[in-house]
Amino acid sequence: MNASDFGEDFHWGAAISAYQTEGAYNLDGKGASIWDIFTQSGKTKGSATQACDFYNRYMQDIILLHYMNIRNFRFSISWPRVLPEGKGKVNHAGLDFYDRLIDFCLELDIAPWVTLYHWDLPFALEQLGGWTNRNIIYWFEEYVRLCLDRFSDRVSNWMVLNEPLVFTGAGHFLGLHAPGRKGLSNFLPAMHHAALCQGIGGRLIQSYSGLRAGTTFSCAPVFPYSEHPSHQEAAATADILLNRLFLEPLLGLGYPMAEWKLLQQVEKHMHGDDEKLMQCNMDFIGIQNYTREVVRYSPFIPFLNARTVNAVSRKVPVTDMGWEIYPEGIYQIIRKFSAYPGVRKLIVTECGAAFPDKFINEKVHDPARVVFYTEYLAEVLRAKRQGMPVEGFFAWSLLDNFEWAEGFSKRFGLVFVDYTTGRRYIKSSGHWYRQFLAASVLSQSVAAAV
Ligand code: FCB
Repeated sequence: MNASDFGEDFHWGAAISAYQTEGAYNLDGKGASIWDIFTQSGKTKGSATQACDFYNRYMQDIILLHYMNIRNFRFSISWPRVLPEGKGKVNHAGLDFYDRLIDFCLELDIAPWVTLYHWDLPFALEQLGGWTNRNIIYWFEEYVRLCLDRFSDRVSNWMVLNEPLVFTGAGHFLGLHAPGRKGLSNFLPAMHHAALCQGIGGRLIQSYSGLRAGTTFSCAPVFPYSEHPSHQEAAATADILLNRLFLEPLLGLGYPMAEWKLLQQVEKHMHGDDEKLMQCNMDFIGIQNYTREVVRYSPFIPFLNARTVNAVSRKVPVTDMGWEIYPEGIYQIIRKFSAYPGVRKLIVTECGAAFPDKFINEKVHDPARVVFYTEYLAEVLRAKRQGMPVEGFFAWSLLDNFEWAEGFSKRFGLVFVDYTTGRRYIKSSGHWYRQFLAASVLSQSVAAAV
């Protein structure tokens, strides 16, 4: 198997996000984000004030992408870098940075794929209630318009949100991610306002000519712990939460309230036209799959009555995150998403693995990551050969970077980052990806030449 088996039009790429890589957290007029503040509170393993210093080293990283035959690059714009207070006064130095980044990608024949929101809300907006304040739909619209006005002449592919369930669930229910809010009274309004922004952002992108709008979802097939009806019911509820909650309102199907009554409580946050506002006929849906979940009934977990059964205790192969390695899961989730009539095109906008990489003699030998990618990609190819509309794959991640609550301890990169010197080293998985992609880059350049 190599990249050309997926067809000439398949989009091969690698992904990063602003907060996880840029650093320069207070340079050139950038405002604070909720992650700058949250990590300073000591609730995570370290903070990303420097991160990978991508802000200063982006050229080198784009050259690496080019060397690795990667012709699509997914990155995000930091909202507080371009609007330090979240709204109002624009930071021109911030916009200039993304101009330089986009221009350099294009110069090296790399298509930029831009995520508008990858979790770094301006802290000034958090002080006004952030995602729990309905006014976020206006703040978000102002921010999206600013980005589109500035970059739409050079960027065709846009993603509205990165994994809304994760930033609302981990950030507004569990308190494990920024801004550290907890409970249903924070989660439900944040969830609903994110669903509104998802639709509003998508339609705004599509109102600019020639742009393609997408958004991304964390997703994982869910299996019951056993055939017992209580576990089956628990698995069905977890599936609603993990895979359906944000997708279905986007597709015009509304929230899956009939099957999970608790969701009816969101109605108190809904206004008359909201069902419509949440809808958008996206050009593509981004799938972000790493693992599967096994779920059992648990009367002790409030609202859900379900809990996941830890992969380590199931004695299955895991990555350094403790996530089960389950290649078939990506096929199953592509099949599940493809079955919705409103889904037009799927792009795997993230997939990858953390392993405890060893840096020896300036090299990282990571055969486990090569096996991981090979097995997951074989399942993507199976889905594609069966006619499912999957048309791209972005490795998470180009670089080792700041893994949120886990800090720098987890390494997902195809490229190793020495955080003390900032130096980059292509891992053996990066060399493998380069080889894997070589055939597709060759055939694209032949097609361009004839
Ligand atoms: C996803 C996030 C991404 C990265 C990977 C490992 O949930 O979108 O930023 O942290 O997980």
